[in-house]
Amino acid sequence: MAFQILALFAALATVSNAALTRRVTCPDGNTATNAACCVLFPIVENIQTHLFDGGECGDEAHGALRLTFHDAIGFSNTNPSLGTGADGSIFIFQDIELGFHANIGIDDPINNETPFINALNGSISVADFIQLAGAVSLTNCPGAARPTFMFGRKDAVAPAPDLTVPEPFDSVDSILARMGDAGFSPAEVVALLASHTVAGADNIDPNLVGLPFDSTPSTFDTQFFIETQLRGTMFPGTGGNQGEVEAPIPGELRLQSDSELARDSRTACFWQANVANLAHMTQTFSSAFAKMQVLGQDVSQMVDCSEVIPIPKPFTGQAMFPAGITQNDVEQACASTPFPTIPTTPGPVTSVAAIPQS
Ligand code: HEM
Repeated sequence: MAFQILALFAALATVSNAALTRRVTCPDGNTATNAACCVLFPIVENIQTHLFDGGECGDEAHGALRLTFHDAIGFSNTNPSLGTGADGSIFIFQDIELGFHANIGIDDPINNETPFINALNGSISVADFIQLAGAVSLTNCPGAARPTFMFGRKDAVAPAPDLTVPEPFDSVDSILARMGDAGFSPAEVVALLASHTVAGADNIDPNLVGLPFDSTPSTFDTQFFIETQLRGTMFPGTGGNQGEVEAPIPGELRLQSDSELARDSRTACFWQANVANLAHMTQTFSSAFAKMQVLGQDVSQMVDCSEVIPIPKPFTGQAMFPAGITQNDVEQACASTPFPTIPTTPGPVTSVAAIPQS
């Protein structure tokens, strides 16, 4: 009798495991745990091939990532009139939102994504497409962790108002207050700024485009956190119109906001914790990014379709000071822990190349 009961339990366990792992086969041959995710596979393939040029971490990928933030941050935990979060409003109400000063340059990713969004014919929401493209963009940048993707955002019925997106000449107080109002702690603000390791500016210096924020703008490595902590110099050609454009090495650009967040007592140790610690940087970024991607949405009504996101390329390099720079050039700001010891790239000082434009 005891044996029969055990056998029954074993059989039930097998059945329930099978039920848990049962996968549906999508029309294109991919398999998914939830049939609702099937619609996403061909969209991912299409944007990898045609939006990101076969899977590059270039200008289009950078723009798609920035767009996720500018759409999502129109949200407040205290003031519903500040927007409904990751809701596609930046695309749907682009006539209004592209007029906001903080959205300068956002017309680039909007223009890049317009043909793809138009071709959807409503099969997924605009809000979902923007966050999907941003998640996929990251997978093209070696070193990124595989992002999750929740599916089922509702599109905006009204634009976000002005002044929800932080700007590079805002104070740390103002940036932390705005981000805090949207639900992000200072640690999460720093975590999200790992995105600036695959980024550059086209609109800070009116004469120059594609100025990277670190020496490796196509790699999701920790160089951004190293290089923003270095003494800055004004290099010829990067003086710009406002005098804030400085960098540790020629060809690079440092945002005033990044420089100040790296040096502020509320954020400096979080900043430094990412230096030469890619695992920490990717883990903290991934969870803050996942939170940002569903701002304002009812997650209980969404489906986890993370399995449609490609596996990112691995990063095999090492955290280094750029050539000609040593530990002496670090402007240590974290009071409790010394700056990690890292080697210097051998060879002469070289200028960082501009990011080729799409
Ligand atoms: C503290 C808040 C932030 C400020 C003040 C800020 C500011 C900026 C500025 C001024 C640029 C350059 C735009 C240009 O001149 O073309 C930029 C680029 C970028 N930002 Fe941020 N940002 C912030 C947070 C974020 C977040 C949270 C993300 C993503 C999760 C993000 C992703 C990017 C990316 C990927 C680019 C590069 C775009 C490209 O190269 O086309 N930023 N950011």
